[in-house]
Amino acid sequence: MAEFDLVIRNADVATERDRFACDIGVQDGKIAALESGLSDGEREIDVEGMLVMPGGVDSHCHVEQISSNGVWTADDWFTATRSAACGGTTTIIPFACQHRGDSLREVVKEYHEMATPKAVIDYAFHLIVSDPTDQVLGQELPALIKDGYTSFKIYLTYDALMLTDRQFLDVLAVARSEGAMVMVHAENNDMIAWMAERLLRAGLREPKFHAVARPMLVEREATHRSIALAELVDVPILIVHVSGGEAIEQIRWAQERGLNVYGETCPQYLFLTEDDLDKPGLEGAKHMCSPPPRDKANQEVVWKALEDGLFEVFSSDHAPYRFDDPEGKFKAGRDAHFKQIANGVPGLEVRLPLLFSEGVGKGRISLQEFVALTATNAARLYGLHPRKGDVAIGSDADITIWDPDKQVTIRQSILHDAMDYTPYDGMEVTGWPVTTFSRGNIVWDNNEFLGKAGQGDFLPCDTPPALSAKRQPVTAFDPVTGELS
Ligand code: URP
Ligand code: ZN
Ligand code: ZN
Repeated sequence: MAEFDLVIRNADVATERDRFACDIGVQDGKIAALESGLSDGEREIDVEGMLVMPGGVDSHCHVEQISSNGVWTADDWFTATRSAACGGTTTIIPFACQHRGDSLREVVKEYHEMATPKAVIDYAFHLIVSDPTDQVLGQELPALIKDGYTSFKIYLTYDALMLTDRQFLDVLAVARSEGAMVMVHAENNDMIAWMAERLLRAGLREPKFHAVARPMLVEREATHRSIALAELVDVPILIVHVSGGEAIEQIRWAQERGLNVYGETCPQYLFLTEDDLDKPGLEGAKHMCSPPPRDKANQEVVWKALEDGLFEVFSSDHAPYRFDDPEGKFKAGRDAHFKQIANGVPGLEVRLPLLFSEGVGKGRISLQEFVALTATNAARLYGLHPRKGDVAIGSDADITIWDPDKQVTIRQSILHDAMDYTPYDGMEVTGWPVTTFSRGNIVWDNNEFLGKAGQGDFLPCDTPPALSAKRQPVTAFDPVTGELS
């Protein structure tokens, strides 16, 4: 009888720490051995010439979620996780989104009902908190954190979702006392609304004015404010989807002061620019997301920040709304102005190839940094490591076999989501995942999707390790414990 369920032979393994050659023995969905010359596996594959990495962890994506202006994402839990798996990602952390008046516990139940029968790979949930009532703050959040929902996203823009600064402070206080990571969508809502009103009054309606209504300083202000609020409460935060230089300056400033402020960026801020929003006709809408893509100079600053380690995670912020569909981007009609067009771009499947090709391939980041940014750091940050995001004994056998030389032209026709476009259409990349294992099961192999709906498991998250950082009180009065020192 074979010793292992699966043996991956001649693996050239890259982790966040190192690179080593070995065979990988998998038993009961976990990595059981990492050494050369392993004995037989019931199933064996030889990966000579390929790279072997932990499957990607995409910690920011929107799946079967209704947007703040009432549009459902094109992807459901099957198509989103299929697309992720075909792009080398084996764990996703989408959102269970509370709308005002909702019980968070009910919301979580509904998202599980959508995910359980359809997910192909494993998943956890962040909570979006838009209605921090006493019940939510005092009972639901503490209980949900204990059940493994240990991160929340809060919005400082979108009328339907945003919190006031005071509500944000309340959420930060719960995060500190109960042990959760707060992710912040940092844009100043009043600045955007004020600009949008004046743009529309002047008859300026096209997609490109989305970026004019949300200039970089809108993000800079909200980033700085978020850092200050988190400093007051003395709790770590993560600023999501950072788009350019001025927000990066704020994060760097905070990190240099020793504050626990983390940053996330996404492909759209490395590969798209505001000029893409000015494509003829309505085409610009395909590139509309918030914050908007900036200019080439900002792209360069984002690259530099990735290279010098400012960012902790590189996520897709996959927010898929179809272009040519009455239920998609233009649900409000083809004559919709920029405020009425659904915000978001897809990216689950191309996140890893884009960063590998332009980052590792062009010598901007090392292979180890690539693994850290796309898998290990997110797993660690959200309390899933070492189960996820690593190739180590005892970790889940979530493994991506990568052909570093494969050249691919990105087209929607080769992707596996439910979209009708990709904003990265025509881009040529070198390096593509050829095989993906989810807990030892093959879900993607040689251009064939082999996963099954329902085989993905829910992952309760541990307390994020950042929460155990040393306290850095701002005043003698601790506003969370009520103690005066
Ligand atoms: O434009 C975006 N990013 N849409 C998705 C929702 C969000 O704010 O992340
Ligand atoms: Zn956001
Ligand atoms: Zn998002």
